[in-house]
Amino acid sequence: MSAVEEMIRDRLKNDIDPREFDTPEFQRNPFPLYQRLRDFHPAYHDRFHNRWAISRYWDIDAVFQNTEAYTRGIYDEDGPYEFGSRHVFGPNILEYGRGERHRWMRNVIAGQFVGQKLNDFLPVIDMIARELIDKFKADGEVELVSQFTHQFPIRVISNMLGLPRQDENMFVGWYQALIAGLGFGGEHLARGIAARNEMWDYLEPLIKQREKTPGEDLLSRIIAAELDGVRMDMEEIKGFVALLLAAGGDTTDKAIADMWFHMMYTRPDQYPDVVANPDLWENVFTEMMRYDPVVHTQGRRALQEIPMYDEVIPKGAMVLVYLGAGNRDERVFKNPDTFDIHRDDLHMGKENRSGRYKDGKPGHLGFGMGQHFCMGYAMARQEAVLASTYLAKLLNNIRPKFAEHEGIHSPNIDSGGFRSPDELWLTFDPA
Ligand code: HEM
Repeated sequence: MSAVEEMIRDRLKNDIDPREFDTPEFQRNPFPLYQRLRDFHPAYHDRFHNRWAISRYWDIDAVFQNTEAYTRGIYDEDGPYEFGSRHVFGPNILEYGRGERHRWMRNVIAGQFVGQKLNDFLPVIDMIARELIDKFKADGEVELVSQFTHQFPIRVISNMLGLPRQDENMFVGWYQALIAGLGFGGEHLARGIAARNEMWDYLEPLIKQREKTPGEDLLSRIIAAELDGVRMDMEEIKGFVALLLAAGGDTTDKAIADMWFHMMYTRPDQYPDVVANPDLWENVFTEMMRYDPVVHTQGRRALQEIPMYDEVIPKGAMVLVYLGAGNRDERVFKNPDTFDIHRDDLHMGKENRSGRYKDGKPGHLGFGMGQHFCMGYAMARQEAVLASTYLAKLLNNIRPKFAEHEGIHSPNIDSGGFRSPDELWLTFDPA
């Protein structure tokens, strides 16, 4: 048998049916398929969806770092496509790849979400967490997803933006429609666009008013932010607020729910460690972002032919990097399928754009890295850790209400969104 025949025989033995990516089993538990991808098809050509799947840790790292060979942009900046015209958020940074416009959009705003600028908003985070917990702390039980995680990040962002408090509930409704609109289902898209338009009509007079009389709020800061003598225009400001509420709010919502799911059901034996030492919430966040991160994939477009293993990814191909698969790569992490807040082979502290750390340990891939590294990485961590610390401190003896739980899953493929449990019922000793 020739070498090529042998290769084909081997492949068929461990063949992947690309329709597996669309099954409810995969939405719930993608990890067995990830394992087969890593072991037998590290550069998998999915002919059915017309894309390539990359699943090993260091290959994903290489895709993120190599901006010569890959771009996130689907369209060229100087081509005929009108940016924002087909996106549920309107004009926003997520549509841009490696060009000048991305650099500008990122740099004009990135500083608002880290360091002292972020610390300025700590009292807001604190206030919202306490307010929400106060509403149920006498009840002895809570459905954490609807009563806390769906509410908390969106109310924090709305307050940071300086929006009137009585209008917060509208934002809670809008952002869920916006996120669903990121999916493939036409109905979700229509509802997402309707929510966006309503939100924009609401925001425009506020933006005009803050232009005239700026305050210390985030909306005023975004309006005034300037780079190379240029500010964002009205459409870009509205698009950025939509992105902030949806991509920033929903991801953090799901992060908190996932952290609590793992503490209650995956590793309840480690929960007492966290209660005894609340600093360990940082580890819970980090290990959640490795073990089963909120976002499992990111897309790139190949700008040249890329040889990888025994394949060649053609120029123009869509490449999906599976962050959730890279994070379970046994070439990098010991016992990768074990959730362990004390693991010593993962960088546990704050993430950075380079993905390289002084402790020499690999980080999780859950915020991406390189050119498009998550701009809200510090904010998401701070919110998730603070909220969890308050929950554990203000509610006594928290435990799951039900012994069984159906677990975390991705949304159906027609709707956008991130991985999380649908519900999380907890009981505690009433205050
Ligand atoms: C746990 C919560 C979060 C997760 C899991 C998450 C995940 C990610 C990932 C994986 C990327 C990389 C995209 C790529 O490589 O193409 C990204 C980018 C981004 N994130 Fe987040 N994110 C979170 C929270 C936030 C928050 C709170 C904000 C709001 C400030 C935010 C704003 C952004 C923006 C603007 C980008 C695009 C950056 C660019 O293209 O340069 N994210 N996020």
